[in-house]
Amino acid sequence: MPIRLGDTAPNFTADTTEGKVDFYKWKGDSWAVLFSHPKDFTPVCTTELGRVASLKREFVKRSVKVMGLSVDPLESHKGWMKDIQDVTGHAVNFPMIADADRKVSDLYDMIHPNANDTLTVRSVFVVSPDNKVKLTLTYPASTGRNFEEILRAIDSLQLTANYSVATPSDWKQGEDVIIASSVTDEDAKKKFPDGWNARKPYLRVVPQPGKERSAIAR
Ligand code: BEZ
Repeated sequence: MPIRLGDTAPNFTADTTEGKVDFYKWKGDSWAVLFSHPKDFTPVCTTELGRVASLKREFVKRSVKVMGLSVDPLESHKGWMKDIQDVTGHAVNFPMIADADRKVSDLYDMIHPNANDTLTVRSVFVVSPDNKVKLTLTYPASTGRNFEEILRAIDSLQLTANYSVATPSDWKQGEDVIIASSVTDEDAKKKFPDGWNARKPYLRVVPQPGKERSAIAR
């Protein structure tokens, strides 16, 4: 079964590079990113995992825990981690699931047989503190993901979870946002007493509520 936005992220136990993990217990009441890569010792995956490791501080700042997955066995993950550090300069600093029996891959529909019938695609699930799936992404093996975009999307998810706003195209932390369509003008006057810029009656722009976050480390 595909996992859709708003679904409860299924719990699982799995062997990882940091020991046996119960997903819900490991995650606690943090946000989480669960992402799959197709195969160890492959070029695009090596760059991706190094990049995720390099962004650790950014994930921590946002209270986001990260867990990777592929169907390769634990010994393979452990051997490959040395290469990732060697190539990217970043040691893997998050657990990687060794899903040789495809238990988690099947649970999260990470194997798309018309793309490849044995390897996981590049799936991403962003899960909120209440264990709901808030964002999904699927990329093919040949296209490495942009993890800054995933952080940007998490900024939007966290902002819109706390305020009655939506974020426009290409929005970044600190930029203006849009009053949610569900908010009437009457309610908007209470929530946004400083007013808004009505570009159209349905497009009401306000400064981002809350504080600005510093730029992403490279
Ligand atoms: C890669 O990471 O480069 C890759 C992984 C699986 C299949 C093809 C390429």
